[in-house]
Amino acid sequence: MELLAKLAKYRYGHFAQEIPGYHIAHKVFDSYGYNIEAIGVDKNGLMIEELKKTKAQIVYITPTHQYPTGATMPIANRLKLIDYMRSINGLIIEDDYDSELAYNNRPIPSLQGLDRGDNVVYLGTFAKALSPSIRVGYMVVPSWMMKLYKESYDAHFARVSLTTQLTLATFMKEGHWDRHIRRIRTLNKKKHQAMKEALKKHLGKSFTIVAQGAGLAILIVPTKKDFDWKRLQTLAENAHIKIYLAKERSGGEFEAVRLGFGGFRLEEIEVAVEAFADVWKSM
Ligand SMILES: Cc1ncc(COP(=O)(O)O)c(C=O)c1O
Repeated sequence: MELLAKLAKYRYGHFAQEIPGYHIAHKVFDSYGYNIEAIGVDKNGLMIEELKKTKAQIVYITPTHQYPTGATMPIANRLKLIDYMRSINGLIIEDDYDSELAYNNRPIPSLQGLDRGDNVVYLGTFAKALSPSIRVGYMVVPSWMMKLYKESYDAHFARVSLTTQLTLATFMKEGHWDRHIRRIRTLNKKKHQAMKEALKKHLGKSFTIVAQGAGLAILIVPTKKDFDWKRLQTLAENAHIKIYLAKERSGGEFEAVRLGFGGFRLEEIEVAVEAFADVWKSM
């Protein structure tokens, strides 16, 4: 993301982002001195008409599985956004961080694939589908950006070691990656179902699910009003439970607890939800 912010700076200075949206994108582009616009999100993802009212030349989106609301941008909106960004000679940053993990939706073509031009950067990562600790991600960039990269960064070495890169390449070449993806899709679907069932069993009618069905988390909100989110976090911490609040990591007014299941084994999920339920019920 840093490299992208640096390269895009040669052409652009005005950045827009979905809000709520991925806090890291905001931090990085802010640190490179971009003007930043916050664009709202609805059930179809980024609100394109809002974007058009700004002077933004770059827009960062998570169209397949909006972070954190889970919205998917339909193909008509993808085409509309591409048309608009092309008309201003702007740049779309398509962060497709977890589409390999989708286990319910049918895939929609990426904006990068639909564009066939110079206006989209596609970002992928192995953080979700494989492991966050190997720190491997990739970008598919337009030719003008590749040229710029080669000219300006001929002394820039990737931070991912060659050993890791070659191991991953061999892993793919030998077919393990495809098998791995198929296996984790099935497993994640089971984990998702297990978490949903455990939530129903231990939290009863005290919650509503606001995002589910893809990725590695279920987001919930309480049914009762005037909920003290900070207190929930403190009580959880006292019980040695780490709680992720959507608002802290994505700005805006979207409030929810993000309950991740990716790091748990299937049989651990109910135990974890039960411990969380004790805290939740004490609110
Ligand atoms: C929206 C989004 N994009 C990208 C990433 C992956 O980032 P990285 O590859 O730096 O771990 C994440 C990880 O949580 C994410 O939530």
